[in-house]
Formats: sequence, C-alpha cells, structure tokens
Amino acid sequence: MKLMREQRERLRKLGQEHLLAFVDELDDTGREVLVRQIAGSDIEKVLRLYERLVKGGSAAGGVPPVEEIKAPPFISYPRGPEEWPAWKEARDAGAGILRRGEAACLMVAGGQGSRLGFDGPKGCFPIGPVTGRTLFQIQFEKVVGAGRRYGRPVPFFIMVSETNEEATREFLEGEGYFGADAGDVYFFRQENLPAVDEDGKIVLAEKGKLFTSPNGHGGCVEALAKNGALEEMERRGAKYVSYFQVDNPLVRAVDPYFIGFHVMSGAEMSLKAVRKREPSEKVGNIVMHRGRLKVIEYSDLPDSAANLRDDRGNLVIGMGSIAIHMFSTGFLRRMASEGGGLPFHVAHKKIRRVDGDGKPVEPDRPNGYKFEMFIFDSLPAAEKATVVETMRENEFSPVKNAEGVSSPATSRADMARVYRDWLKQAGAKGAEGEAAVEISPLVAGDAEELEEAMGGRVPAVRDGLVLDGRQPGEE
Ligand code: UD1
Repeated sequence: MKLMREQRERLRKLGQEHLLAFVDELDDTGREVLVRQIAGSDIEKVLRLYERLVKGGSAAGGVPPVEEIKAPPFISYPRGPEEWPAWKEARDAGAGILRRGEAACLMVAGGQGSRLGFDGPKGCFPIGPVTGRTLFQIQFEKVVGAGRRYGRPVPFFIMVSETNEEATREFLEGEGYFGADAGDVYFFRQENLPAVDEDGKIVLAEKGKLFTSPNGHGGCVEALAKNGALEEMERRGAKYVSYFQVDNPLVRAVDPYFIGFHVMSGAEMSLKAVRKREPSEKVGNIVMHRGRLKVIEYSDLPDSAANLRDDRGNLVIGMGSIAIHMFSTGFLRRMASEGGGLPFHVAHKKIRRVDGDGKPVEPDRPNGYKFEMFIFDSLPAAEKATVVETMRENEFSPVKNAEGVSSPATSRADMARVYRDWLKQAGAKGAEGEAAVEISPLVAGDAEELEEAMGGRVPAVRDGLVLDGRQPGEE
C-alpha cells in the first residue's frame, strides 16, 4: 500500500516510527484507518510546538513583564439611575441591529468537558433547576427567543469537534433544534491535534489510533473560514457575531446592550468582564499592555502579577474575562485571511495511552502535552476593542466541575436565584425564599423582558414554578 510506505518514510524522518509499531496486529480496516489518521494529522506542527513551547521553555503564553501591565479601561455597569440613559441608548442601538437581522450567534461546544465527568457533549447536560432543561435547550431558546422578539431569526453557528460532532448533531436534530429553523443552525468542526509525551513522542491512544484532542476554542477563527461558516455569515448579512460558551447557562447570548456598545464604540472585538473574586480566580485576566488590550489566562498568570495593587490598594489585574465576546464579521475575515493562526498554549495533562508494549496506561500524573489556541488571543489584533462590565451574579455561572465551585449544584442555585429576582422585579409575591423556579429564555432574557411578557399578570413565586410560555396542561 502506497500510503503506508509514504507514511512510514515520513514518520522515520520525524523519529515517530513507534506509531506503526502495532500495525501488523491490526486487520485490514484497522490498518487503513490508522494510516489515514496519521496522513491527516499535522504531526510536524505538534513537534514544532513541542520544541518551542515545552523544550524551548516559552510555555508561559507570552506574559508581558509585570511593570508593563496596566489596568484596562472599561464601560462600567450602572451603579445608579443617572447611569442608565447611556446603557438604554446602547440597548436601542443593539435592538436596531437585531431588527435588521445584522447579528449572528457563535457558540463554542467542541470541548471535551473532562472535568465534569459527563459522558457525552456537555450541552446535553441537564441543568434547568426545575425542568432539567439541557444546556443546549437553554442556549437554543435564548437564540430562538431573540429571533422572535426582534422579528428576525438570529443565525446560530455551533463549533463542534471530531470528539463530539456526531453526538451533538444527533441530539439537536432529535430535539428539532428546540424550535429553531434547521436552516438557521450551522455546525462547523474545529481541528483535532495529536498530543506528545514527555519524551517528544506522539501519543498512541490505542494500538491502531493516535490520541487527539480539539485545538482550543481559538481554533474557531481558522475553522470558520475553512468550513464555509464565515462565508455563510456574510451571505446572511450578519455584521456582528455574539460569541459564548455552551457551559454558562446564565449568559445573555443575544444581548442588545452589549451589541449596542460594541457597535457604538466602533470596536472590532468586545468582551464582557466581571470583577474578580480573588487574585488567582480561574478566569481570563484582562490587562492593558502597550496600549492594547490582552487577556492572560489564569494558568499563565504569575502570582507576582496577580497580586499587583495600585496606589489605592485595588488589584491592577482585577477584571476577569468570562468568555463572552462580540466580533465584527470583518475582523474575523481579516484574521482568517492572515491565516487565522493564533498562538498556541501548552497544557500538561494526564493522557490515557498504550505504552511501548501496547498495554493500556491509566496515568496518575500528567504524562503528556496538548496544544490549544485561545480565542481571546485575537484581542491585540483588534484596532479597537471595548470592555463592558457585567454583574457576575446575573450572567456567569458556568458548569465546569462535578462538585464544588462552578458545578451543576451552584449553577442551578444561581439560575433559580436570578429567575426569582426577575419575578420580584416584575412584581411577583413570595420571591424572598429559596424556591426552585425556572423561566424559559423563550419567555424572557431579563427582568425587563419578563415584565413586558407578563403584562402585569405575574404569578406568585412557589417551589416548582415554570414559565415557558405554555398554558397549564399544554404539551
Ligand atoms: C475558559 C476561559 C477563561 C474564562 C472561562 C469562563 C480559556 C482558555 N479560558 O476557561 O478565560 O474565564 O472559560 O468560563 O478559554 N472549547 C471548544 N473547543 C476546544 C476547547 C474548548 O469548543 O478545543 C469550548 C468548550 O466546549 C467550552 C469552552 O470552550 O464551551 C470553555 O472551555 P474550557 O476548557 O472549559 O475553558 P476554561 O478553562 O474553563
């Protein structure tokens, strides 16, 4: 077989012949699958990254010297009534964009969700505090709800990976895209990359299979352009893209305020920020460096920088990125035409593999390196970037871990608290307790919209109350 010969030669030159060590034990199909996987994998790129980031020691993700780091400017969340008019102006501008059909949504859902320990795409995880609505249903209802509210469907782009594309598509199709028109839903796949072990050898997951994992959510820039998704956005007249992660059920996926600020400030990229809870909180850190905004990932931030304080004792790096962005489509196009390649970061991870004898290894400490791109690394390339403050209690409660912080339990409790708060603001009685309640995003995306939707007929809060726009007894 010609391909086998070619690949054997390629691997020999790269010092990676061990990848074919068990090829004779495979049947014809297994052999073909392995050789095709090798042929389709950018092993050269991974080995270059290993040389530079691991052996070369520049693994810190390009953190600037501490003395060059400044606090970022941002639009602060209104603290009193006198500060609302500017926000309302932004909201009206954002609403205009939505009514003209100039916005799209981009949800990244290609990750593995390994920390949650849930078998399947994270979006299939049940999270609604009363109904057990899945993360996918909640995110879809936000996008569909906004389309109905503004009279124009919002095209919904979903990034998946080899790891979860099939299961994601099957699930969503089976659920009828939760009310979205199939023509408004667009899946695109990011690239998977092999991993390398501590001796610089590409990792075999099984005798006939390389270990691979998604190349980070920053892979979306390249993937959007390669797979026709960016073209589709442009074809549909979407000038602005609202970007969010599948794991945060509180995200305002289509936020007229944020869209408005992005557009009014003439930004190419915008990001939402919250005040950090503690210097080393596990969020991206927003900083100013040489006149440009930059996000430094928590894993890359040295303690000396995390604990920097200004004259008044405030943290210099006090604003956290919660991975909610606005992009102008033109900016995505420009980045893509420049190759779409963001810098890679390295992660030292436990990787299940087979050893040199072909025996499965279940590591108890990190034994290999994965390489990922982060979307926020596109920030310094933006001619203009805007940071908008949001309240974490309203908008950020991700599902990351099986227990403890950022877990299903904390996320459900936060959702119920937010919904009770909206009900209270809309005039409902009994909102003081801890009742589990749920409001479908099809009904409202904030207190203001709930008030409008209810038209003064707000039910009293009770445990198990669900507002999903249906009449009692309706299926
Ligand atoms: C991420 C952010 C962090 C932010 C936090 C907010 C990074 C590196 N860090 O941290 O700055 O404060 O979220 O919750 O982004 N994904 C893909 N493809 C991939 C990898 C991830 O689509 O290859 C998606 C996942 O499906 C998920 C999201 O990206 O929706 C977040 O990935 P995750 O690895 O959980 O990021 P965190 O470390 O939690």
